[in-house]
Amino acid sequence: MEATRTAKILTVVGARPNFMKAAPILTAIRDNNEGVIAPVHATGSQDSKIALKNVLVHTGQHYDEAMSDRFFSDLNIVRPDVHLGVGSGSHAAQTAEIMKRFEEVLLKEKPDLLIVVGDVNSTLACALAASKISYDASGARPLIAHVEAGLRSFDRDMPEEINRILTDHVADLLFVTEESGLRNLREEGISSEKIHFVGNTMIDSLLAFKHKAEQSSILNKLGLRGSGSPNGSANGAARYALLTLHRPSNVDQRETFLNILEGLAGLSSLCPLIFPAHPRTQKRIAEFGLDRFFVRDSGVQRDAASVCTNDSGRILMIDPLGYLDFMCLMQHAAVVVTDSGGIQEETTCLGIPCVTIRENTERPITVRVGTNVLAGTSKEGIRKATLQQLESKTARGVPDGWDGKSAQRILDVICNEIRKKRAS
Ligand code: UD1
Repeated sequence: MEATRTAKILTVVGARPNFMKAAPILTAIRDNNEGVIAPVHATGSQDSKIALKNVLVHTGQHYDEAMSDRFFSDLNIVRPDVHLGVGSGSHAAQTAEIMKRFEEVLLKEKPDLLIVVGDVNSTLACALAASKISYDASGARPLIAHVEAGLRSFDRDMPEEINRILTDHVADLLFVTEESGLRNLREEGISSEKIHFVGNTMIDSLLAFKHKAEQSSILNKLGLRGSGSPNGSANGAARYALLTLHRPSNVDQRETFLNILEGLAGLSSLCPLIFPAHPRTQKRIAEFGLDRFFVRDSGVQRDAASVCTNDSGRILMIDPLGYLDFMCLMQHAAVVVTDSGGIQEETTCLGIPCVTIRENTERPITVRVGTNVLAGTSKEGIRKATLQQLESKTARGVPDGWDGKSAQRILDVICNEIRKKRAS
């Protein structure tokens, strides 16, 4: 018989794209606990609630205010209970350091279940450490839940693809965001009992914070509001495009990066192109002497006339933004150009045309159902796709299950699995 009906969950975050995927799960855990009214020592029926104690672990893979701390306040996430402080390093060094430090946390906390999200090095490192741990002589270890399982680009040169495959193959519960994920996991021989289609927790965050993001002052700061442009968005924002680029395959080689920037020249001559640049990308721009393509935001509030006319087709580079400011910029953009995974999904949900500067995507639903177009990385491909998408007015659909309720579905499955494990 179970001694109590409290279970311990350990949730891991590490890098920027993890925060918005984990936040709704943390909220669902809190909501679950508020709904637990039965006394702790009562023996429960299958339907009885389990009180969940969550321990939030931050690996420290991302550590800057702009890459990490800001997201905790924007998304109302509680401070981490444990911070591993690993910082940057080569893939091997970073992954190994997370594993070493995380193993100690597992042995101290002995959670019933571990939640990892996405496909970053922290995701794999923590899942791998948990898969080999044993709390005692019986070999007990936590159940491993992977949120955003099954996505495949079929490009093993991407570090994230290796992280996805390996994490899925050590996980016990695989939470899938789109139908391609179900197919991929079945084709890799993963038992269907472990696979759960739940939708997309990143979209839970988007829907929860969409309204709050409207209150951001970023459009005013960048001089993007009130230009009176006939092509601007409904709330009076000017017509502008938004850019993000950080994939090593796009920015780590001068020739490739230069090609991409030349491909974007057509777009930046037609409207302001706003570029919140990842630290890796900022370093490469300086290293490769590519500054001539950019104008730096001076931090001084700009007016609409200056942003539209004074930059002579150059890209307006700013520092990375927090969640709410970035979402506000995304919601009002005429087109978003990116090599990020998550932004392909967010633009699909918002109905904003998206151009992805990659040869492939692990999120094919964003192309099939959503607003995303794959441009590849050639100059001509980028030029054509960005100009076409700038004029695109086609309303597209939102994928199944991207409805703001994914975290709740995940929690229902988790509670059931914990009950089953305790009953066995
Ligand atoms: C990581 C993820 C990637 C995700 C991206 C989002 C992996 C393999 N990659 O890539 O999937 O899309 O995060 O941002 O996990 N740096 C800072 N400050 C920070 C963090 C990083 O300056 O807070 C710089 C460091 O120089 C570091 C470099 O950025 O070496 C890269 O950081 P890293 O976490 O290694 O990978 P990302 O490129 O951010």
